[in-house]
Parts: sequence; C-alpha cells; structure tokens
Amino acid sequence: MKKITKAVFPVAGLGSRFLPATKASPKEMMPVVDKPLIQYAVEEAVAAGITDMVFITGRNKRAIEDHFDTAYELEAELAARGKQELLGMVREVVPRHVNCIYIRQPEALGLGHAVLCAQPVVQDEPFAVILADDLIDGEPPIVKQMVDVFRRHQCSILGVQNVPREQTRSYGIVSSTNLEPGVERVNAIVEKPRPEAAPSTLAVVGRYILTPRIFHHLAQVQSGAGGEIQLTDGIAALMQEEQLLAYRFNGIRYDCGAKLGYLQAQVAFGLRHPELRDEFAAYLDSLK
Ligand code: G1P
Repeated sequence: MKKITKAVFPVAGLGSRFLPATKASPKEMMPVVDKPLIQYAVEEAVAAGITDMVFITGRNKRAIEDHFDTAYELEAELAARGKQELLGMVREVVPRHVNCIYIRQPEALGLGHAVLCAQPVVQDEPFAVILADDLIDGEPPIVKQMVDVFRRHQCSILGVQNVPREQTRSYGIVSSTNLEPGVERVNAIVEKPRPEAAPSTLAVVGRYILTPRIFHHLAQVQSGAGGEIQLTDGIAALMQEEQLLAYRFNGIRYDCGAKLGYLQAQVAFGLRHPELRDEFAAYLDSLK
C-alpha cells in the first residue's frame, strides 16, 4: 500500500495575465484577503498528510522561498513589540514537521517539464501535483479527498469538474466512463481542444495524483500545444499502461490565474473572514 508524502508545486510560470502586478513578484504570492495563493496550496497538502513540499521555481521566485523560511528580523521585531498573535501566525506558515524543497526549472518549457524536474526528489513514489492558481474551497480539502480515492484504487487520479463548452480550450479535457459515485475511468485526455472537437466538458483542474511512471513518459514527450512539454501528453501516454481515474471533487474552484476568478475568490474568502465578514457584507450590500 503506497502513501502520498510529497506534493509538487510548479511555480515557475511568468504570470503574464497579471502584469504589471507580477513584474517583480511571483503570481503565487498574490494574496486572497491576507494569505498568498501558494500558502493555501501548501495548507491543502498538509491537510492531506503530505510532509514534503517540492517547489519547481524559476527566476523572480525567491519570495516563495522566503515566505516558507524563518523571518528572524520580523520575528524579533514582533516579539519586541509584544505582538504574540502575529508572531504565532508568522511562525506557523508551515508546521515544523514539513520540509520545503526547491528545484529550479532553468527554462519555461511547460507544465510537463516542470513536473519532470521533480523526479530527483520524488523518485519512485506516487505524488500530488498542486497548481496554486486553482484555489479550491472544499471540506475536506480536495487533495485529502483525492488521497482517500488513491488509498482505495492505488493509481493516478485527476481532479476534474464540468466547464462551459466554450471554455474547453483552456483545459485538459477527459473522456470517461463512470466507475463509482464521483469517480470516472478515463479513456482519453486531450490538451485544450476547440469546443467543437472536445470529447466532453469534463476539465482537469489543478490537482493531480500521479504514479512515478509519469516521469518515464514525460521524458519522452515531444513539445505539444503552445511549443511546451505538456503534462497532459505525459498522462495520455501513462494511460496506455496504467489505470487512470478522474475524480469529481466536492468544492468550489476559483480560477485565480484569471482576473475574474481572482476577484471572485477575494469576495468569497472576504465574506467569511472572521475579522471582516460583517463589515464587508454590509459594504457589498450597500453597492446593490
Ligand atoms: C494547465 C494544464 C491543463 C489544466 C489546467 C488547469 O493549463 O495544462 O491541462 O486543465 O492547467 O488549471 P494552464 O492553465 O497552465 O494553461
């Protein structure tokens, strides 16, 4: 029985949809209310019992490493001012038992290539991949839901949800047959098909559990859609050898890689933030 102990966070992307905000700082550090996107992603992994966080980083991404490191000066300053609550918050960004590992992706060759960069650390274990700009609000958190499915089936699993047909060209799309409630057996996957060519409207969103055999396939994949090494192409090859499942997660996804989804996430998370919710709700009401 294999256990998932590692999560890979591809964070080397340019974030061009959020320029100029992302000119000098990583898109994964953009906050939703008061927490950066990458911290939500790491907390989701921690909630699934994952202990090794593997970040695939690139240029201009040092802020992510600093965020998950000790901040001596800040901590000393907060301690000197007696700000115990803030001090606790800063210290608990990651629990002590969690390891953060950073690998540089020297060139932006695509999501599949980013995942392949994790091979020296992941080696021969199944692992999770979490795309921080898909912020998913679910209870239990989505990766935990998927780890539970993995425990039963011991194979690769894709997090999926239905999208409007006109949006298929933004996603990996699967064709599948139902296996059990919420779980599908995938028989085809294609990256960003045109709406008229899409085999379904079931889209892969940024949560994956993959067996280590994926590395073998990613190493062989030729650059595909957009000149990049696509994770979807590696998964399509993996599917020829191993069972591949799709899991319709329970939760609401905010596409924080796009401006509208990011604003929606701010509103949803603002409306239940303990310090803000009443005043913020009253403000939104006043706009009606
Ligand atoms: C990537 C994947 C795509 C997946 C999407 C989920 O695309 O290539 O298959 O559906 O993430 O967010 P990107 O959004 O990086 O273009």
